[in-house]
Amino acid sequence: STTTDPAGLITEDWRIHGSIYTSQAIFEEEQRKLFHGPWLYVAHESELREPGDYKTTHAGIQPVIVTRGADDGELHVMLNRCRHRGATVCQATRGNANFFRCAYHGWTYRNDGPLRGMTYDDAYPELDRSKLGLVKLPRVDTFAGFVFASFAEEGPSLEEYLGNAKPYLKIISEQGPEGIRLSAGAHQLSYGGNWKLQVENTIDNYHFGFVHRSFLDVLADRIGQAPPIMQRIMFDESYRTIDLGNGHSVHEFGDPRTGNNGGQLGDLPFNLIVFPNLCFVGAQLRHVLPKAANRTEVQLYPMLHEGASDDYNEAILRTHEGFYGPAGMGGPDDVEIAFERVTDGMQATEEDWLVMSRGMHREREGENGTLIGHSADEVPQRAFYRQWRRLMGAAA
Ligand code: FES
Ligand code: FE
Repeated sequence: STTTDPAGLITEDWRIHGSIYTSQAIFEEEQRKLFHGPWLYVAHESELREPGDYKTTHAGIQPVIVTRGADDGELHVMLNRCRHRGATVCQATRGNANFFRCAYHGWTYRNDGPLRGMTYDDAYPELDRSKLGLVKLPRVDTFAGFVFASFAEEGPSLEEYLGNAKPYLKIISEQGPEGIRLSAGAHQLSYGGNWKLQVENTIDNYHFGFVHRSFLDVLADRIGQAPPIMQRIMFDESYRTIDLGNGHSVHEFGDPRTGNNGGQLGDLPFNLIVFPNLCFVGAQLRHVLPKAANRTEVQLYPMLHEGASDDYNEAILRTHEGFYGPAGMGGPDDVEIAFERVTDGMQATEEDWLVMSRGMHREREGENGTLIGHSADEVPQRAFYRQWRRLMGAAA
């Protein structure tokens, strides 16, 4: 079930068409409209401290290298694609290098992009080598240490784009005596389902008591009583979800200004979604990488505290592994139920409209154009799809 009008896949009363998760045509349109123009998260500065540092990741489905120039010390984001016959020129996840050598025929590129050398280079007199550098994304900018890039030469600035999400990103970056670092690298998991399922599930508090039932049982066993998580989520009025605008949203379950003091070790008192594919949950950053309509990769980075003791950071890592990691008490349940069972159910195309209206009647206006709802309301999902509809409805 596909349609040529993606913007028509969401009704006024928040019914969502199932093809949003299954159609490869819609996936490709998303790549053009969501992932080829608007700002995209690519790295955190702690991964790129020294000249020559680099990491590889993806901007949408496109492979990119993020580097700190060996000579200029500036951040560069370029396509990881050899100008000869298209092989990726950098295979490693991260490292430090002055240049990259393509594995196919050995052309080399400086780590800030320009072509450095061709092997046996007497056979291309017609080529202008100065035009054969790695293709750069025209705009790169940082906010609070988070590095974003855009394929568009012009458009809103990064700060305009982040808007109401900025104070939360700042709080995240200011955890720990000297900020955060992603030096532990990432756990990686992939699942057979659409990328938006992981983003939506980041702030879907409604699911917790059902999908994570076995985790709650184990917890109850350990502490001798049922943990009050679901009561809080369903009835605690101080817990709230907020549509921050531009597709971003947050779930506050403590005072955001208390930083990490509100929750368990390393945990923030809020979860955050930065449209389209950057999420913060507990003490981790999740970078959601779309691969195909029914294929997604997720990189889970524990955020360590710079300047904190080794014991403290060690404990953050254990918490990360214990619940969120691919072998944790929570991660696999989300993959199986929230992502793969949904994908399976979505193969049934009769009556394809789904419900995303929970709490719609009680959304209330907050400051700066925000919309506030209860903890388990589908406010973050609607925030996401308001922006999705806006971008997908725009002319290509
Ligand atoms: Fe890179 Fe040939 S594809 S050198
Ligand atoms: Fe979950």
